[in-house]
Amino acid sequence: MTQSLTLRVQNLSISIAGTDVVHDVSFEVAAGERVGIIGGSGSGKTLTALAIAGLLPDEATATGSVQIGQPDGTTTELLSLSERELAKLRGDQIGMVFQEPKTALSPFQTLGTQMTDALALHYRLSRSERQAAAVRLATQVSLKDPARMVNAYPHEVSGGQRQRAAIAAAISASPGLLLADEPTTALDVSVQRGVLDLFNTIVDRGDCSLLCISHDIAAIQLVSDRILVFDAGRVVESGSTLEILERPAHAITRALIAAAGGAPA
Ligand SMILES: Nc1ncnc2c1ncn2[C@@H]1O[C@H](COP(=O)(O)OP(=O)(O)O)[C@@H](O)[C@H]1O
Ligand SMILES: [Mg+2]
Repeated sequence: MTQSLTLRVQNLSISIAGTDVVHDVSFEVAAGERVGIIGGSGSGKTLTALAIAGLLPDEATATGSVQIGQPDGTTTELLSLSERELAKLRGDQIGMVFQEPKTALSPFQTLGTQMTDALALHYRLSRSERQAAAVRLATQVSLKDPARMVNAYPHEVSGGQRQRAAIAAAISASPGLLLADEPTTALDVSVQRGVLDLFNTIVDRGDCSLLCISHDIAAIQLVSDRILVFDAGRVVESGSTLEILERPAHAITRALIAAAGGAPA
């Protein structure tokens, strides 16, 4: 089983077709820490996440450094890895959850199959072992009626249940870092809280760090020890979640708090 990884992003800049869109971004996520990134639309949050995951579009270029660190102190520079090495890292060491579980999950395969894709890639599993792993994962992410859910197709379940299945897929191979980009943005407000609580449960189990991204500070504050505020591709403010909520220094931070309906509970 993987243990919590550290993430160190240093002077990350990203340009697309010659236009600089992310400028000199630096931050760290310590082992077992939960860090949130907030910012308005187009502030560079998703590109930053894609750069960390090695999934930038072909027309984009990243410079700077993105390192993950193992518990024994060894580090890996992700920006210089090959596509093949990055593919191995994703799922195995870095789990990813995106906004829209409809696009993250194939409509043609059962939730159980998709939840165990990364596992099946890394371990030889018999059919019954894979089925058992799917039920175990479905239970871990609190899918209702796990034994039935693993045989359901995405369109047969609610958006919240789909996102739980997508999270199960992301954590199936026990990654040490979980990367979530707008994981609750497509969900009804009534089910957002449960999904965010699930991230906390996963981190609390003690073998994962979390970088969670959203435009919604009300969501992010529930899953973050620290928050970074992005604007126009730059980190304009950072601090403990309490500091950011109680003493926002930047106008953008205050605007994001106001957009979420004032200081969130
Ligand atoms: N594939 C792309 N081609 C051109 N510009 C892009 C592409 N992806 C993102 N951008 C631009 O980069 C900026 C940051 O985008 P993004 O990281 O998606 O923002 P956010 O996730 O914060 O809403 C935006 O101005 C966006 O228009
Ligand atoms: Mg985005």
